[in-house]
Amino acid sequence: MSSHGDPIPMTSSASGPLRGEAHVPGDKSISHRSLILGAMTVGETKVTGLLEGQDVLDTAKAMRAFGAEIEKTGDTWHIHGVGVGGFAEPDNVIDCGNSGTGVRLIMGAMATSPITATFTGDASLNGRPMARVTDPLALFGTKSYGRKGGRLPMTLVGAADPLPVRYEVPVPSAQVKSAVLLAGLNAPGDTVVIEKEATRDHSERMLAGFGATIRTEETDEGRVITLQGRPEFKPQTIIVPRDPSSAAFPVCAAIITEGSDVLVPNIGLNPTRAGLFFTLQDMGADLTFENMREEGGEPVADLRARFSPDLKGIEVPAERAASMIDEYPVLSVVAAFAEGKTHMPGVKELRVKESDRIDAMAIGLRAAGVRVDEGEDWWTVHGLGHGNVPGGATAASQLDHRIAMSFMVMGFATQKPMSVDDGGPIATSFPIFESLMGGLGAKIERKGAEA
Ligand code: S3P
Repeated sequence: MSSHGDPIPMTSSASGPLRGEAHVPGDKSISHRSLILGAMTVGETKVTGLLEGQDVLDTAKAMRAFGAEIEKTGDTWHIHGVGVGGFAEPDNVIDCGNSGTGVRLIMGAMATSPITATFTGDASLNGRPMARVTDPLALFGTKSYGRKGGRLPMTLVGAADPLPVRYEVPVPSAQVKSAVLLAGLNAPGDTVVIEKEATRDHSERMLAGFGATIRTEETDEGRVITLQGRPEFKPQTIIVPRDPSSAAFPVCAAIITEGSDVLVPNIGLNPTRAGLFFTLQDMGADLTFENMREEGGEPVADLRARFSPDLKGIEVPAERAASMIDEYPVLSVVAAFAEGKTHMPGVKELRVKESDRIDAMAIGLRAAGVRVDEGEDWWTVHGLGHGNVPGGATAASQLDHRIAMSFMVMGFATQKPMSVDDGGPIATSFPIFESLMGGLGAKIERKGAEA
C-alpha cells in the first residue's frame, strides 16, 4: 500500500548506457533540521534547496501546528519561528507520515515545553520503536503514553521544569542523539550526549550555526557532546546541500549499467555520511570525486560514476555502518553484480528502518535469483557477476522508499525486468527519481510485471 494514495506498481528494464548529469534533491536530514531549528528561532530563517519530499513537507506542517509561520516564495522557504521554549500546543494530532526522523526530532524539540502533543504516522512509522527516544526524554521529565512496545500513536506531555541530562545513546542513532540535544535546548545548564559510534553530525553543526554553545570531544568513552541550554538563536540563511543518500541511486545505477558515465554534482562528503562511496571504490567501482571543495564548512565534490564490469565482493567494515546506514539496500544490489560474496556485518539497525531492510531486500533479491544469507545483525549477498543476474521478480516495497528505488535500479542491469508492487513511497525522499533516472536513459514504467 502507498503511504498517500493507491499503490503505484513500477517496472524497470534493461537500460543504458546512462549518460548525463544527475541533479539530486536536497539533503533530507538537513531539510528536517532546517525547519525545526528555524521554528525554534525568533525572526526569519531562509532556506533554499530544501527537499520537497513528503517526509519534509510533513515536518513543515508539524512546525506550523506548533506555532511557526512557514511559506515558500520562489525557491526560498521562509520560516518565522517562535523561539526556544516557545512552541504552542497543537490543536490536532501531528501526522508525521512515513518519517522516523521527523517524528523523533519533533518529539525532542517539544519535550521540554509545557505542552501536550499526540503523534501518529503511516503503517510503517506506527510499527517503529519510539522508546529509544521517549526513554531519554523521560530523564528531562517528559511523559509519554503510547501503544504497547512504545509505538505510535503516542501522546507526549512536555516537562514544565525540565532538568538537563547526561545520556549515553545505546544504539548508533543520529535521530536519538538529535532528539536529546533538541530537548536539551530548553533545559537549564548543560545537556551531555555520549555516542560510542559516530553518527551523522548535522544537528551539532547546525545547532552551532544557529548560535548554540555546543562542543564535541573525542574521548575513551566515545564522542561526548555538550550543549548549553537556553541559547538565544539567531535566524539563519541555509543552502541545503544535495543528498548523498539520494546520489547513491544514480551512482550505483551507472556502476552496474553497461556503457554508463554519469556526473552527480555538488554532493556533500561529510565523513559521517559518505561510507557508501568508499565501499564502492573498495569493490573496484569506477567512481571518482571531481572538483573537491569546501562549502558551508562541509567537504563537497562532483561524483563521476562509470560502468564498472569487474566489481568484486568485499567485507564491508562494520565500523563504517553508521556512515552508510541508509545505503545498504542499494549496495546489496551492486553486490549482486559483483564477483563473489559481499558480507555486511554490524547492521542490526537496518531491521528497524521504514521496513526491516535486510528482510525486504533479501526476499526480493532471492526472487530475482540472487543468494542471500542473513543473521540478526549481518547479511551476505552472493554476487553473480555482470550480465548474470536473472531478475524477473516483483518485490514488495513495504512502504519503504529506498527498497523501491533499489529494485528499480537493479532492473536496469538484470536479464529480465524488475518490478515493485508500489513505488509511491519514493516521493517521501526523492520525488523526481523517475524523471531524473529517465533523463539519464533509464527505463522505468508505471506498470506491474507482465503476466
Ligand atoms: C537520520 C538518521 C538515521 C537515518 C535516517 C536519517 C537523521 O536514522 O537512517 O534516514 O536525519 O538523523 P537513525 O537515527 O535511526 O540511525
